Amino acid sequence: MNVIRTFEDYQEQYKKSIEHPENFWSEVAGNFYWRKKWDKVLEWDFHKPEVKWFQGAKLNITENCLDRHLTKHANQTAIIWEPNNPDDDAKHITYQQLFEEVCKTANMLKANGVKKGDRVCIYLPMIPELAYAVLACARIGAVHSVVFAGFSAKSVADRVQDAGCNIVITSDGAHRGEKTINLKGIIDQAMESCPGVSCVIVKEYLKSGVPMKTGRDVYWHDEIQKVNADCPAEEMDAEDMLFILYTSGSTGKPKGMVHTCGGYMVYTNYTFKTAFQYHEGHVYWCTADIGWITGHSYILYGPLSAGATTVMFEGIPSWPDWGRFWQAIERHKVNIFYTAPTAIRSLQQAPLSFVEKYDLSSLKVLGSVGEPINEEAWNWYDKNIGKGKCPIIDTWWQTETGGFMITPIANVTKLKPAHATLPLPGVQPAVMNESGLEIEGNNIEGRLTIKFPWPSMARTIYGDHQRFKETYFSSFPGKYFTGDGCKRDNDGYYRITGRVDDIIIVSGHNLGTAEIESAIDEHANVIETAVVGFPHDIKGQGIYAFVICYEKPTEEEKLRVEIKDTVSKIIGPIAKPDKIQFVSGLPKTRSGKIMRRILRKVAEGDTGNLGDTTTLLDPAVVDEIKAGAL
Ligand code: WTA
Repeated sequence: MNVIRTFEDYQEQYKKSIEHPENFWSEVAGNFYWRKKWDKVLEWDFHKPEVKWFQGAKLNITENCLDRHLTKHANQTAIIWEPNNPDDDAKHITYQQLFEEVCKTANMLKANGVKKGDRVCIYLPMIPELAYAVLACARIGAVHSVVFAGFSAKSVADRVQDAGCNIVITSDGAHRGEKTINLKGIIDQAMESCPGVSCVIVKEYLKSGVPMKTGRDVYWHDEIQKVNADCPAEEMDAEDMLFILYTSGSTGKPKGMVHTCGGYMVYTNYTFKTAFQYHEGHVYWCTADIGWITGHSYILYGPLSAGATTVMFEGIPSWPDWGRFWQAIERHKVNIFYTAPTAIRSLQQAPLSFVEKYDLSSLKVLGSVGEPINEEAWNWYDKNIGKGKCPIIDTWWQTETGGFMITPIANVTKLKPAHATLPLPGVQPAVMNESGLEIEGNNIEGRLTIKFPWPSMARTIYGDHQRFKETYFSSFPGKYFTGDGCKRDNDGYYRITGRVDDIIIVSGHNLGTAEIESAIDEHANVIETAVVGFPHDIKGQGIYAFVICYEKPTEEEKLRVEIKDTVSKIIGPIAKPDKIQFVSGLPKTRSGKIMRRILRKVAEGDTGNLGDTTTLLDPAVVDEIKAGAL
């Protein structure tokens, strides 16, 4: 039921999902283990906004990801863990083993005081314990908040405080290529401003001998020894919170997106199986980090609920050399490979011999996510990795959407390079013009909204429903606004053109310009900053900062390094500006609003026609900025 194998199936299912959404989703949801079925499939009102799926249903997502596979697939590999260093052994963790590890970890959390509804911050490298910790939270009904292990102490502290976490799980360190990172040191620093955290569980991984704070810090290996593997799953309501995951917003404060149990489970599973055309026995590898939504939905919950074998990779694509991905594909005979355009663009720069050394004949389907994939990268990926025989699934979606929204279905949808193509069943896009009207028909361009709920949409921003409403449901009342622009061509295919708000996507990571600006402003010599994105060959977008200083810098380079360090400390290295131009003023309107349009043009190197500048307070500043452009 609901299986799509041909384009006709797709059309039929899509129609059904639009005409009878409740029937459609209750059929899909029939393929799971529920302790109790729902009373009502959907209740919604985008004006409030409020969305509830499968109300009255009881479940635990881990029973669907683990327990139900044990009868037939206990000995099948659930997770292949590929270490940072290719000379170390990979680990094959069966469903039985994963089940036991998750239950033990869950009992360890309980023994350390974690209860249903508590928020748990997880700050771990890509090691199996990260998967255990996430699923252990879900097992006992605690809410996980995974923070990407590249974020700074301040970023961790903000997230811990915002979610009111009372426990943190971390490790004594992480590998990153040939470097190591002291995660525990970052946590110690973060904890200085998080008095609510009473317990830090530390996985001893690098054995680096980190200091432990008595009364607060405990070692994972000590605690796990005290518990057994018997941990019945907590019964959850479909609409109970499963996790919080932070994403950047257009103000400085990140948004804690809230996802709930039932709808998220149904949708991530359905979209995983449908878009990739996953078949039993396939080995699947998503190269994302579990610190991002892609890792949550498509390393863990989607594949595991489908009983797949999912690869979890600790390392980076460039170490020890540029063949690292291809080597791992050969080693594990990967059938479905899912990565990001920024990775493809950097791999594309390395000599082809790194690809040619390895046997990639196991590959059947390729995927891309995180930002628009440019034609050149698409073609390179298709030709050199897919050898022209693997469809590329360009999946458009967001932290907020929980799962794929617009994407080709492998071997079903006719592909067009750089197009996310068509909406999946259940997804109803509407393209809007700037005056808020829906643009009908094809060959159009506008802002992308979704006009009907889908099961895995975020339900709120943790602790701030008003902000949720303002950010997503106010620009186009009655519709969910994605923040993206798009085109719809003559075939009805969608092409995502990028963000139309103050978010820039750098190497696939969402960063709010306001967040970066306030970090730069922390530098003692900085008065004011404006940040915009500019096209970058590898990262997709780079960060260009225009900075006004109190004192004109005598050594500009030195100040640039200091500013980058400041940003690195406050947000994390991913947010460091690529270019910093010192200016004496910013182009502001009479009402004091920065005209970013002008700065964007300068950053793009397109200073020929800056458009109308007559509304500026001081048009002369534009000439100075143009003259000093980097
Ligand atoms: C962008 C990542 C074009 C988009 C899953 C979106 C994409 C933002 C694509 C969400 C794609 C993601 N084509 N753009 N295939 N995938 N984006 O929350 O701008 O980290 O709004 O979720 O990334 O990023 P997020």
